[in-house]
Amino acid sequence: MSTQERIEKMLKLSEHIIAAGGEKKVAKQHESGKLTARERIALLLDEGSFVELDRFVSHRCTNFGQDKKELPGEGVTTGYGTVDGRLVYVFAQDFTVEGGSLGEMHANKIVKVQRLALKMGAPCVGLNDSGGARIQEAVDALGGYGKIFFENTSASGVIPQISAIMGPSAGGAVYSPALTDFIYMVKNTSKMFITGPAVVKSVTGEEVTQEELGGAMTHNQTSGVAHFAAENDEDCIKQIRYLLSFLPSNNMEGAPIIETGDSPTRTDEALNTLIPDNSNHPYDMKDVIRSIVDNGEFYENQQYYAQNIITCFARMDGQTVGIIANQPKVMAGCLDINASDKSSRFIRFCDAFNIPLLNLVDVPGFLPGTNQEYGGIIRHGAKMLYAYSEATVPKITLITRKAYGGSYLAMCSQELGADQVIAWPTAEIAVMGPAGAANIIFRKDPDVEAKTAEYIDNFATPYQAAKRGMVDIVIQPKDSRPTIINALQMLESKRESRPAKKHGNIPL
Ligand code: HXC
Repeated sequence: MSTQERIEKMLKLSEHIIAAGGEKKVAKQHESGKLTARERIALLLDEGSFVELDRFVSHRCTNFGQDKKELPGEGVTTGYGTVDGRLVYVFAQDFTVEGGSLGEMHANKIVKVQRLALKMGAPCVGLNDSGGARIQEAVDALGGYGKIFFENTSASGVIPQISAIMGPSAGGAVYSPALTDFIYMVKNTSKMFITGPAVVKSVTGEEVTQEELGGAMTHNQTSGVAHFAAENDEDCIKQIRYLLSFLPSNNMEGAPIIETGDSPTRTDEALNTLIPDNSNHPYDMKDVIRSIVDNGEFYENQQYYAQNIITCFARMDGQTVGIIANQPKVMAGCLDINASDKSSRFIRFCDAFNIPLLNLVDVPGFLPGTNQEYGGIIRHGAKMLYAYSEATVPKITLITRKAYGGSYLAMCSQELGADQVIAWPTAEIAVMGPAGAANIIFRKDPDVEAKTAEYIDNFATPYQAAKRGMVDIVIQPKDSRPTIINALQMLESKRESRPAKKHGNIPL
């Protein structure tokens, strides 16, 4: 064979593999509102930057006539490229080839990019669209999942790992995404469940649709398994690129600093009138976030889940911060099981990736009741105490209003390692809500009402804590942005370490 013939053979083989499951299957993929694996990769990476690996890998299964079947690309396209000029590894399962099902060699292709991403300190993005373990490959498929889970765990906290569910993700296919840092789901087309509706019916008798059982909003709103919801494939990939813009490539780097054009000394008079005179009236904590971050822009994590707490990425003077904020508009901002889980995971992500934490506090307490106690609020609430205490990144706490009891500590008080605690004059830092406290201390006093009012004036303020040095600075609300940016700059050189250990034992 001449060199030219060899080149032509290579091109022909490539062309065949690139055509994936063939025209019909590709048309079906498009009809169902989904892009193909290669189209998705092309959107994710900077134009022309994709380098494909393992294009010619093929399976070696002989069960059930599989040896007669040729599966282009093994049902998964893998490689690397750049996002905004920064190296990113990617794998995209190809539903047009045997339903994107995962066999031994399909898994090996994924494991290769996972290992390269870890070695190179670059994020790994998985675009999932798969019927799960390739049934014909039996235990080889199971072993493949096992290897992927192992690599996910090994890379956890070293490189950002992002999963997008862009079609089915059933059975074993759910657990690799669950081991990564963030899960995106596409509305209407993505489904995640450990067993589908038919099995559910046979085991529990429940009748449920695929969408109800594991659709995008089920996991974004109800289970908290997913972190972001997208309108369609294009929106999903655009959001992933946006998320990456906030993150460092690995745990040894800082997040990229971006020139946002917003003045670090900008103040906002509107904050001085934001807090209602009646301490029991709600306000929107997102107004505070919008006011203090660069250009009012923030990217909310788990925005549909546990809305009593807000977790988001934003920039302050160009630097990425992770914000954890109570939301007085929802359940008065109480901490419950779901809010504890949501925020603890976010805190640990930020800490692992050198992203400073900004805590905005207006919290009346942990949510009481049998529902919460039986569900283990003690165990879940402890995660917040653990996550904040463990975090060594810069931690800044701004108390806008209520900061009562255990929940005050759980929102990163000075004792849990806040490097700077800032309070507005409207802050109420107290051992418990003033009405409850007065009711205990003055219950036998005939003048209980006057005494309660006096108690509120003296104790529902920032000054008891400030007298003890538990609050560093009391500021006018309008000065919040410059004060926080100043603290972030002061904390740039922060170095803090914890006792050497194999790993801690966070209450799970
Ligand atoms: C082999 C599979 C497959 C699988 C789909 N296909 N899933 N082949 N193994 N797991 C093939 C189909 O046979 C079909 O091949 C093609 O992919 C497209 O699938 P369709 O069924 O035609 O597509 P659709 O109607 O869109 O339905 C998609 C689906 C369905 C909902 C994903 O295919 C399905 O229910 N698949 C099985 C899901 C499942 O139970 N997975 C769990 C596996 S066990 P042809 O040749 O007809 O085009 C598991 C345990 C691992 O994952 C645990 C590890 C910890």
